[in-house]
Amino acid sequence: MFMNEGQHWAKLWHWLDERLGLTDIVKLVRKKEVPVHRHTIWYYLGGMTLFLFMIQVTSGILLLLYYRPSAEEAFESIQFLMTSVEFGWLIRSIHSWAANLMVFTLFVHFFSVLLLKAYRAPREVSWLSGMGLLALTLTFGFTGYLLPWNELAYFATRVGTEIPGSVPLVGPFLRRLLRGGDDVTGATLTRFYGIHVAILPALTTLFLGLHLFLVQKHGMSVPPDVERSGGAKNMMPFFPNFLLRDIVGWLTALAILAALAGYFPAELGKKADPFQPAPAGIKPEWYFMFMFQTLKLLPSYILGIEGEVIGIVGFGVAGLFFFLVPFLDREEGQRWSDVLTWIGLAAIAYMIVLTAIGYLVSPTK
Ligand code: HEM
Repeated sequence: MFMNEGQHWAKLWHWLDERLGLTDIVKLVRKKEVPVHRHTIWYYLGGMTLFLFMIQVTSGILLLLYYRPSAEEAFESIQFLMTSVEFGWLIRSIHSWAANLMVFTLFVHFFSVLLLKAYRAPREVSWLSGMGLLALTLTFGFTGYLLPWNELAYFATRVGTEIPGSVPLVGPFLRRLLRGGDDVTGATLTRFYGIHVAILPALTTLFLGLHLFLVQKHGMSVPPDVERSGGAKNMMPFFPNFLLRDIVGWLTALAILAALAGYFPAELGKKADPFQPAPAGIKPEWYFMFMFQTLKLLPSYILGIEGEVIGIVGFGVAGLFFFLVPFLDREEGQRWSDVLTWIGLAAIAYMIVLTAIGYLVSPTK
């Protein structure tokens, strides 16, 4: 007996459904809904970060086809990619720009979740896994910066790995661990490469899996001020309504990314030469600028303790504090509830002002 095309598909669906439980997945997707209220826009930021992360994985794999992780060949392999490989420059520029955009959307996601208090029970582990993702993403940025082995990256990494060296007790060990020796050398490059292409992707996959699983499990939170005024009036089906809006956001991000990568291709500069003095204008990536600038502005000694040490320990304590946020602020109306909103706003203002000072008042070029 002959089957028409529709019957073929139905048979295939049935075959797969029996083995993979597709009907259950479809039921789950149909059931998923997103609350609609005045802060719904912030729900798009996590998905946009995820989209940019997927671009990073894809473009990163393509870069791996040409990149060589040694002090002798890294710079040359990127130079070859930029000049002789078709669209090599574009893939590298996309990887570099998408990294910056991803850190930006991640910061916005982080602060929106903080200010909307989406970390409260039962979402404490969503928050903790998110903090893990934040740390992993910043480490991606730090390790990736060195990989082209150009002058700017080399000296910025020297400064960047020197800084944890002044942490009391563990500092010197930490510096050697990061550098794979006393100075930044080919050993550091190999180490950063291993971390960037193997360890971080593996850990990020684990943390992201947990994070997204928890988002599905708990659904989206409704912010306290919306709850106070009677809760979300409407629910939007995730499929297709919310997903289509998500896709509009992704396409917008893609358009911005394409324009940046096309009009401002990633630069390469000169090959690193460890025997040359550090050139003027050594700067970290913009998302580390507020920390870098803080350390620069602190006096050499505060109450007999090195200013830099106080700064580093201060940032460490601040990081730990943000980890603990869901355990400090549990309910509306309690002491921590307003304090944390103000701390969040102050942190945003601090980061913007110090970054601006870093670029405007102490120009690095
Ligand atoms: C690679 C980094 C990250 C990715 C790809 C990611 C992805 C997502 C996605 C897709 C959602 C659901 C939609 C949304 O609320 O935007 C979400 C929700 C959430 N994320 Fe993230 N996230 C990341 C980092 C973070 C960070 C740094 C934090 C905070 C420490 C965080 C905390 C949360 C919380 C608490 C929710 C639940 C929000 C709610 O229920 O209203 N995430 N994340």
